[in-house]
Amino acid sequence: MNIPSLRELTDLNGKRCLIRVDFNVPLDKQGAITNDRRIRAALPTLQEVLNKKGKAIIMSHLGRPKGDPKADAILRMDNVARRLSELLDKPVRKVDQVVGPAVVAAVNVLRPGETLVLENLRFEPGEEKNDPDTARQLAIFGDVYINDAFGTCHRAHMSVHALPQLMRQQNKPCVAGLLLERELRILGGLLTNPLPPVVALLGGAKVSDKIEFLQALLKRVQRILVGGAMSYTFLKALGRNIGNSRCENDKLELARQLLEQAPGKILLPVDHLVADRADASARTQVVEGDISEGWMGVDIGPRTVAQYGEELRTAATIVWNGPVGWFEFEPFSQGTRQLAQIIAQATARGTTTIVGGGETAEAVEQFGLDQQLTHVSTGGGAFLEFIANEGRLPALDALLA
Ligand code: 3PG
Repeated sequence: MNIPSLRELTDLNGKRCLIRVDFNVPLDKQGAITNDRRIRAALPTLQEVLNKKGKAIIMSHLGRPKGDPKADAILRMDNVARRLSELLDKPVRKVDQVVGPAVVAAVNVLRPGETLVLENLRFEPGEEKNDPDTARQLAIFGDVYINDAFGTCHRAHMSVHALPQLMRQQNKPCVAGLLLERELRILGGLLTNPLPPVVALLGGAKVSDKIEFLQALLKRVQRILVGGAMSYTFLKALGRNIGNSRCENDKLELARQLLEQAPGKILLPVDHLVADRADASARTQVVEGDISEGWMGVDIGPRTVAQYGEELRTAATIVWNGPVGWFEFEPFSQGTRQLAQIIAQATARGTTTIVGGGETAEAVEQFGLDQQLTHVSTGGGAFLEFIANEGRLPALDALLA
């Protein structure tokens, strides 16, 4: 993919750099950041710009505001700017608008090596509309555009689409930041020449969220190990009894077709941890095969862990998306934790291990294993769409040289 890189820009001295990051971080009810992984992931790019004495103008969305900034005050960028300042160990300014006179004034006083955070892009109606006029207002004070927001590249929104398109027409450099570059290198490698055998571990709640992803994987991998709530839809499609487990009844035919498409390639759990209700204090037991009425599957069982573990140990490349159980509840987290440990051990033996999706990234971080994997993508939907669309995403198209 021919996307220019920030590395190619040697002279940033005094240049106003519009940097699109994905600081869409999880917040608690008071608006405090509960996980700053996405902010930390963008630091190399920001430090590169600041070290080269560029002026960093940071743009991000945060959550999904409904259009009234007063009602969505919790989604203002103030806490994010504060956390960024702590991580950079430098003052960071913040302006309460995305475009307009206050922003122009704030940019005008920005000095080389300083950082300004704009307000939540989604407070501005032009963002999600991919509005060229809003793009024009931002482009005025950008000498350089940097996209370091892999997690947002599947959205055709103004800050990742209309804006770089316009700035390219104005002959201004538009490049990928260091995080985006790394995501494209590693995930692109998974698409073009992954070292076989490639084993995919797929979990999460819904088959319907991952159909295109699953179909793309079927073409590329030697095995798909399925866990999590989506496995019950597959099992029911095969005529198994799944008790009260979650199931997408309208996707049974699709699940059946996927299983028939590649016979033997998709493995399903052979045993389950089941609970009598969706609660950490529920009664639980391990069952083989069918699940009786009154019980619901909440994790894969020990025989499945052993079988999937064997498959993962033979892999040269592992791609993992979606927890295999309800890992947020400690008693239901064992399957996900044990497979994460096996994947971390495989990494130490030289297997390339790629993890994607918000929940999976959260799980490996919670288990303290995130540093022991080849790559933990910052993309949720973007990760799935990148693989499903063979590396094409709207924001990447806007950067293509
Ligand atoms: C994400 O969290 O996947 C990205 O930040 C995109 O957010 P969105 O799904 O609200 O567009």
